[in-house]
Amino acid sequence: MYSEKVMDHFKNPRNMGEIEGASGVGTVGNAKCGDIMRIFLDIDEAGIIRDVKFKTFGCGAAVATSSMATELVKGKTIQEALEVTNQAVMEALDGLPPVKVHCSLLAEEAIHAALWDYAEKNRIHIEGLEKPKTDISEEEEEEDY
Ligand code: FES
Repeated sequence: MYSEKVMDHFKNPRNMGEIEGASGVGTVGNAKCGDIMRIFLDIDEAGIIRDVKFKTFGCGAAVATSSMATELVKGKTIQEALEVTNQAVMEALDGLPPVKVHCSLLAEEAIHAALWDYAEKNRIHIEGLEKPKTDISEEEEEEDY
């Protein structure tokens, strides 16, 4: 049911933990399944994501997607991090079962929420970043029905 990459990131999650005094922190949940993901970003003056950590209270797919999402944004610019969609995370994991697609949405939204927090703290505008949702289950409903 799960790819080897998903199992690997679930069993050995990369970048798990938190960053004290992070440049941006984003928390997103899904009211339906009750899972929560928090992403911490450390962004330098040049706008490069120097470090990223996550904490996920959720299912195995949520842990695996958080882990892969942090790997994909680490060392990237803010604009590059914005391009890390849930599709990109799923592709990097060699796919997810359809019922687990929403778990990857948590990862995308949590990164956006952390970038939003960073932008607010620094009073800057990030081109292409929309106000993130705190509950992705609304989006999921629109997609499902
Ligand atoms: Fe909800 Fe995975 S079951 S995030």
